[in-house]
Amino acid sequence: MDIRVLTPSDIPHVQSTNITNLPENYFMKYYLYHALSWPQLSYVAVDTSRPKRTPYDPPKIVGYVLAKMEEEPVNGIQHGHITSLSVMRTHRRLGLAEKLMRQSQRAMVEVFGAHHVSLHVRMSNIAALRLYQDTLGFTNEKVELKYYADGEDAYSMRMDLDFLREPTLDADEDEGDEVGDVGKKENGDKAGGKKVRQRRVKIGKGLGVGDLVERNESQV
Ligand code: ACO
Repeated sequence: MDIRVLTPSDIPHVQSTNITNLPENYFMKYYLYHALSWPQLSYVAVDTSRPKRTPYDPPKIVGYVLAKMEEEPVNGIQHGHITSLSVMRTHRRLGLAEKLMRQSQRAMVEVFGAHHVSLHVRMSNIAALRLYQDTLGFTNEKVELKYYADGEDAYSMRMDLDFLREPTLDADEDEGDEVGDVGKKENGDKAGGKKVRQRRVKIGKGLGVGDLVERNESQV
């Protein structure tokens, strides 16, 4: 089983998985809007157990999460939203939905600096409620009456994502005693006894797009 980011060519297969599993269905352009606006946030679970017979065989998509960022966040606080999640019956209770959700949540924080994630779920959807509340840690914010087209009410849920934010090594953490001059500032600042605040920096694959843009070395 492979969990990877959703690409535009996956959309017809994701749409068919959605139609099979949920009554809330969307036009192709709504999927495309997600994939093009927030390409890092939506994921698919692909069953790779059956090898492709031809290069044209479509991927066997057995689950997906379609996610976005809130476009007009209240108080300017960035937050993500789960538009839709489903896993085919044949592949349920394997942990796929949990993995899809966690992958998307991590990307919301790392790419867009999200502080929390929200979603709506039918009050009668026990499987999804167990997943959101017990496994992932969502809490119920309020009930939205007649949220769904058939008149069913929805729980409006949310989960704090601050625990995923980049940890900083600050003064409260015990970094051990200083050894020799290592860690002391070179410019004459007194580092002795006072800890210098350190921050983890991204390297390699963790680099953002900005770091990959070609620079004009002649101006350096
Ligand atoms: N009954 C009770 N608890 C369940 C169930 C269930 N049928 N399914 C999942 N859970 C809970 C369990 O705690 C489970 O952990 P466990 O297996 O160790 O006990 C945990 O969720 C994780 O389960 P996963 O295996 O990750 O979930 P799965 O891949 O089976 O997908 C999902 C769950 C997405 C709800 C699936 O049942 C489904 O596709 N249902 C139909 C579509 C749907 O309801 N989607 C959500 C709509 S809300 C929205 O889209 C924002």
